[in-house]
Amino acid sequence: MSDPLSPFLAVRDLHVHFSTEDGTVKAVDGLSFDLERGRTLGIVGESGSGKSVTNMAILGLHDRERTDLGGEIVLDGQELLSATERELERLRGNKMSMIFQDALASLSPYHTVGRQIAETYRKHTGASKKEARARAIEMLTKVGIPQPDLRVDDYPHQFSGGMRQRAMIAMALVCDPALLIADEPTTALDVTVQAQIMDLLKDLQQEFGTSIVFITHDLGVIADIADDVLVMYGGRCVERGTKQEVLRAPQHPYTWGLLGSMPSLTAPVDVPLSPIPGTPPSLLNPPTGCRFHPRCTFVEQVPGGRCGSEVPVLGSGTGAERSPACHLTRGQRDRFFAELATSSSSH
Ligand SMILES: Nc1ncnc2c1ncn2[C@@H]1O[C@H](COP(=O)(O)OP(=O)(O)O)[C@@H](O)[C@H]1O
Ligand SMILES: [Mg+2]
Repeated sequence: MSDPLSPFLAVRDLHVHFSTEDGTVKAVDGLSFDLERGRTLGIVGESGSGKSVTNMAILGLHDRERTDLGGEIVLDGQELLSATERELERLRGNKMSMIFQDALASLSPYHTVGRQIAETYRKHTGASKKEARARAIEMLTKVGIPQPDLRVDDYPHQFSGGMRQRAMIAMALVCDPALLIADEPTTALDVTVQAQIMDLLKDLQQEFGTSIVFITHDLGVIADIADDVLVMYGGRCVERGTKQEVLRAPQHPYTWGLLGSMPSLTAPVDVPLSPIPGTPPSLLNPPTGCRFHPRCTFVEQVPGGRCGSEVPVLGSGTGAERSPACHLTRGQRDRFFAELATSSSSH
């Protein structure tokens, strides 16, 4: 079933449209990316750019009655958009699993932390209660919960925020999933705990060989954890590449804006960012052409009003052939980015 030559996770021309009373929300509109085994893909973009909708599509969590899903999501040779509810149920928690911002919402308040981890394990492995409890303690140890053989019988409210996040990671990894989707898992935590959780995820990834999709609006977090980066705007990818490429040699004006709103990649992560002027696009009536064009400083540089009329196509090349979804020429992009870089370093 698994083909060593095809990527571990391949998302192809993904569309996720919601029918609402006000019309169709085009939350994700033609998104493609690959993720290789053991690597971390960071998906970054402002709030409302379609990051969580993408992650829910991979996990098969959208209400299919109200959602129009198109394209392909292939995980280790299996197409997920056409998978049955039962197949998805079997994959979730086992082959793919997730951690979210809000651990309290993912953990039941009525059961002990240990029981919840153990039940996830039993559901997918058929292990005995005793084996599962031992496994829960083992996982709590791995995620750094002190006195795990005692804390295993605590309820979630008896854990601190950081410990709950660790418990959620333990639950997500208990069946050794090949894919972990982490949706802003550290956003609600203070900076010190955030750093600890990131270190923990990196260690566990080494140990388990997990592939991770890490979703965040924070480029500092991306700089810390990602191997590859995909920048989303208005339900589409504007550019992608390795972390070094995207952070050191960004090619899309939106990425320049995101980076410009960061003090510096080495600055502490709690420094407030200055947002990009303008507001994210409506996904009910998205802008024609390039969805970023109403906020882009460089629209006048492209002749014929193409930014407003023609959808720019993301290049499929990598490395030196990498090209963003933008109508600027390569020469223009190099020049404008060099100018931005010198002007921002001079003050
Ligand atoms: N079930 C839904 N019905 C209608 N619109 C939705 C639904 N879920 C998300 N959206 C819309 O899709 C867009 C993308 O949302 P989301 O993926 O959550 O953004 P983010 O990048 O912040 O995670 C937003 O405009 C959001 O309002
Ligand atoms: Mg989100």
